[in-house]
Amino acid sequence: MAKTDKPTTTDAGIPVASDEHSLTIGPNGPIVLHDHYLIEQMATFNRERIPERQPHAKGGGAFGRFEVTQDVSRYTKAAVFQPGTITDVVARFSTVAGERGSPDTWRDPRGFAVKFYTSEGNFDLVGNNTPVFFVRDPMKFQHFIRSQKRRADSNLRDHDMQWDFWTLSPESAHQVTWLMGDRGIPKTWRHMNGYSSHTYMWANAEGEKFWVKYHFKTDQGIEFLAQAEADRLAGEDGDYHTRDLYEAIRRGEHPSWTLHMQIMPFRDAETYRFNPFDLTKVWPHKDYPLIEVGRLTLDRNPTDYHTEIEQAAFEPNNMVPGTGISPDKMLIARVFAYADAHRARLGVNYKQIPVNAPRCPVHSYSKDGAMRVQNVSDPVYAPNSKGGPAADGERYPELATWEAEGEFVRAAYTLREDDDDFGQARALVREVIDEPARERLVSNVVGHLKGGVSAPVLERAFEYWRNIDPEIGERIEQGVKGG
Ligand code: NDP
Ligand code: HEM
Repeated sequence: MAKTDKPTTTDAGIPVASDEHSLTIGPNGPIVLHDHYLIEQMATFNRERIPERQPHAKGGGAFGRFEVTQDVSRYTKAAVFQPGTITDVVARFSTVAGERGSPDTWRDPRGFAVKFYTSEGNFDLVGNNTPVFFVRDPMKFQHFIRSQKRRADSNLRDHDMQWDFWTLSPESAHQVTWLMGDRGIPKTWRHMNGYSSHTYMWANAEGEKFWVKYHFKTDQGIEFLAQAEADRLAGEDGDYHTRDLYEAIRRGEHPSWTLHMQIMPFRDAETYRFNPFDLTKVWPHKDYPLIEVGRLTLDRNPTDYHTEIEQAAFEPNNMVPGTGISPDKMLIARVFAYADAHRARLGVNYKQIPVNAPRCPVHSYSKDGAMRVQNVSDPVYAPNSKGGPAADGERYPELATWEAEGEFVRAAYTLREDDDDFGQARALVREVIDEPARERLVSNVVGHLKGGVSAPVLERAFEYWRNIDPEIGERIEQGVKGG
């Protein structure tokens, strides 16, 4: 072996004698048990894989910064949104239903998760490339994801299962219309928008509250893949989107998105014509126009995918002062679900993994547990008279609050005048997309329905599309029955 200034060592830093040969009794004899370097090689290899994310397992990401270009301080006091502030970020993009090795170009919503390392703690926006979602009650989320993944018997994905769930859940109509349209397969992650989808809260320095939605609009322009092209790429390059982002950044083409907000005065929510917290609906732009805030730019690739992207842990509960959640039941469930998932996937001290660690001082009372690497110091309890951290409720009051009253019930949201499952999907089909896009939508749905959907479910699917738009429903039925 050539001389090197970087001799191989064990994980303990001890130089080893060979990268190639195990320790044996004579060249042809058995391996000895005290070849602990061979054992370390085998043991670490056997433990390389960690559980994949339940949904959103396949993805990629990069680092960058968020720069505030406009003054929105009258809506939020969050340091990350004050004029001129530049904050480091990590972003991860993903498909939802596929496993870690699955093709990037399957038709699916795309995750759009951003962690901002702010001076007031980590702020995570864990959104998608669509402004709405399939269900509005978290009780249905687990069932929805299972219907998109694999059957118990064959371990195959199954269009019958997908349409069975969707047609029995008419609140999915808006998101399914979106998914089956052009935006259901973005050309690359650089060519898609990111939306918070949920309504969140902002609060300014005076304590005035607003309901808000985040829209990251791509500066590269929206581009999509037609079904045939996506199918071809799925076979030729399953990592097409991962490769595109990595190579674009390596070439120095740094993708960016302009953040816009929709902002609703707090009291408007009480009387707005539909429930503004319903995740299956957007707020029409004419009611709440987009207000520009700043620019997100990705300019640095990870150097170790596993430590920096696979172990990244995004959680919608990471809300910093001046930001908060809303009464959206889905969001409330997510505030629990992600940290729980991270504790299972990465271990209780996942926030000490460098990609998840805040870049500001941490004064928490969490202690011990597997893989803790930061020392804790006394006192380890509160209240104490020993100079330990103490909550400052005057400076940092609980912001994400609203009033609620009533009996404990299991019930759907109270319906308002314009609350229905199909109206906004109909607007998308009739008013937003043009005839060639409608034709592609029909073709995508017909192709999907011809992929093994059983007779009773098919009939419900035709009805579902007729409810969205009678003409589109008719075209879909003809397309399926005609050939
Ligand atoms: P607008 O005409 O003001 O907005 C329509 C929006 O639709 C566009 O701004 C664009 O949003 C988005 N869009 C354009 N082409 C497509 C496409 N092929 N597939 C999906 N979305 C597309 O009308 P409204 O605000 O009243 O919304 C009408 C419908 O538009 C909604 O029912 C919804 O389906 C869809 N929409 C609305 C959004 C909102 O936040 N109001 C956001 C996105 C879609 P963008 O610039 O964000 O890409
Ligand atoms: C990932 C739960 C709805 C966006 C995940 C994960 C869980 C989860 C458990 C895996 C986390 C991990 O292991 O790291 C839920 C629940 C939901 C919900 C319970 C509703 C009740 C949504 C919605 C959006 C969304 C509405 C978008 C608006 C994402 C994204 C990821 C993700 C982007 C991947 C994050 C990453 O890149 O690591 N979700 N989810 N989810 N979810 Fe959700």
